[in-house]
Amino acid sequence: MSYPYQIKSLEEYQNAHQKSVDHPEEFWAGIADNFKWHKKWDSVLDWNFNEPKVEWFKGGKLNITENCLDRWVETQPDTPAIIWEANDPTEKDKTLTYKELHFKVCQFANVLKNNGAKKGDRICIYMSMVPELAIAVLACARIGAIHSVVFGGFSAQSISDRIQDAQCNIVITADGAYRGNKDIPLKSIIDEALVTCPSIQKVIVLTRTGIPVSMIEGRDCWWEEEIKKVEEQGNAFCAAEIMDAEDMLFILYTSGSTGKPKGVVHTCGGYMVWTNYTFINVFQYQKGQVHFCTADIGWITGHSYIIYGPLSAGATTLMFEGIPTWPDAGRFWDIVNKYKVDILYTAPTAIRSLMAFGNDHIEGKNLSSLKVLGTVGEPINEEAWHWYDEHIGKKNSPIVDTWWQTETGGVLISNLAGVTKAKPSFATLPMPGVQPLLVDENGKEIVGNNVSGNLCIKFPWPGMLRTTYGDHERCRATYFSTYNNLYFTGDGCLRDGDGDYRITGRVDDVLNVSGHRIGTAEVENAINMHTGVVESAIVGYPHDIKGQGIYAFVILNGIHTDENHTKKDICQTVAKIIGAIAKPDKIQFVSGLPKTRSGKIMRRILRKIAEGEIHNLGDTSTLLDPSVVDEIKMNRL
Ligand code: PRX
Repeated sequence: MSYPYQIKSLEEYQNAHQKSVDHPEEFWAGIADNFKWHKKWDSVLDWNFNEPKVEWFKGGKLNITENCLDRWVETQPDTPAIIWEANDPTEKDKTLTYKELHFKVCQFANVLKNNGAKKGDRICIYMSMVPELAIAVLACARIGAIHSVVFGGFSAQSISDRIQDAQCNIVITADGAYRGNKDIPLKSIIDEALVTCPSIQKVIVLTRTGIPVSMIEGRDCWWEEEIKKVEEQGNAFCAAEIMDAEDMLFILYTSGSTGKPKGVVHTCGGYMVWTNYTFINVFQYQKGQVHFCTADIGWITGHSYIIYGPLSAGATTLMFEGIPTWPDAGRFWDIVNKYKVDILYTAPTAIRSLMAFGNDHIEGKNLSSLKVLGTVGEPINEEAWHWYDEHIGKKNSPIVDTWWQTETGGVLISNLAGVTKAKPSFATLPMPGVQPLLVDENGKEIVGNNVSGNLCIKFPWPGMLRTTYGDHERCRATYFSTYNNLYFTGDGCLRDGDGDYRITGRVDDVLNVSGHRIGTAEVENAINMHTGVVESAIVGYPHDIKGQGIYAFVILNGIHTDENHTKKDICQTVAKIIGAIAKPDKIQFVSGLPKTRSGKIMRRILRKIAEGEIHNLGDTSTLLDPSVVDEIKMNRL
């Protein structure tokens, strides 16, 4: 069975896109009609980018979990919804059919209710990639609580910041997590975070690794014991809370160029329609296929293409607890082989790293089930694209290069697998509903082809962010104030002679390290917390595996004399404040930083030095002290 709104040819794509531009309300009402609503919307779209206000299907009543679960329980109860592969390949895998997943989500929704959760509460989820993570997310949605998933690699400080910002009242976590050959003590990290989070009343702890944890009377309880209580109460079913299409579904924190990470807010109706529509069309999902998205649910890719997109389409989604290189670099291929994966969606970083391990790890693994390959998170270089195409897809599986962001909810620019053409390192064409344009520094549209500029979107699509939690002005200032009446993505982009889009990378002070967004200001603040540091500046530089590496220029105060030791301490400080993903790859100690007379660090110069372009630094005449540049150049790492 396919889906009535699955695009099947280039012509259908062109017609759909044209219709979405000419008659957006009619177009999206037609798509939204395919979902389960308790009441249809009063208006399809109301918007104004200046405030900004974006409302889709307002007045429509629904619950996203009825669309992800109940409607499939009626028609395909025994279809696997989630297949789970453990970190350790010798541990038994698990499959949850739609019927079983529905049951477990209802059960845990009742656990949440027993613990005082109600519609509108913010609930922080800090877990690894176990099926219970998906169950917890869906249980929140079931009762109308707003989930805020925090990636299991973030530090106690980062969790605390996020909990405080959203004023969460409940945390769902596990005793520990397995990741490759490491055990991560999730509960003890949560305990550290909660010292500064008075809003938290309950902590629900899943048993995963069995490491000893402290359990605080009155606050902490075990997942399993709470489930038993629900069983004893005999209330297995949990009716879905009826939500307005514009009620919040979740908050997901993401880094920007300034300040602390902001809570990107997505709402129930538009996000559901968008993730479902893009899942079905980009990957050309066919009923019965196994979809393997390798992201962690702690990031937007996991929210949209492990949970909501696939499940709202009645698909089978594969969750993997481990990492691509453990026990060896053939792990993804073992999984593809074992479950006959049809669609594999991963990040260029993973592809580059597996490519570097050599092709021996692929040999003997049957990859013939693969029909579609996807990439996301960062620009993919041509070499990695061709390796993926040749060695994984055997030149027989279209690659979709999907460009999007936490803020966009789902894919905005991508080819449609096997339907529109792929082009190495190009995301190619906008999805129906997406109207991209390139602008110059002054916000003037750059028309025609073979041009580059800053990528903006001029019309709302159902899955776009609605606000940043608790600070609407920040949302306006970040995305809608750079250019009048446009959503600014922060990305640079070129449009080639065919009108295809190629995303070239961030044009703001946001780094993309291994496909993870990291704000320069955040890392600098963390480095500056080290007792030996006076000041620091962070820039990105090209890194063979990670895409971008983090290069730190640091001024020391001279208290610490062993420089190597200090470097390690600085890395440790960053890991403690943010998480291991933000550790600098290179640290260069300097006596000064290139600054303008008004005291602004000239990152442009540092970026060039980090990239190795030391002979072409551009105009340095506005520098307060040009001599620091020579010293930095000379000692470059
Ligand atoms: O710079 C773009 C890059 O990742 C940024 C968004 O990061 P995040 O919100 O963490 O979401 C990542 C997963 C959707 C974008 O601003 N990016 C994402 N996909 C691509 C990409 N750059 C080039 N090509 C892509 N396919």
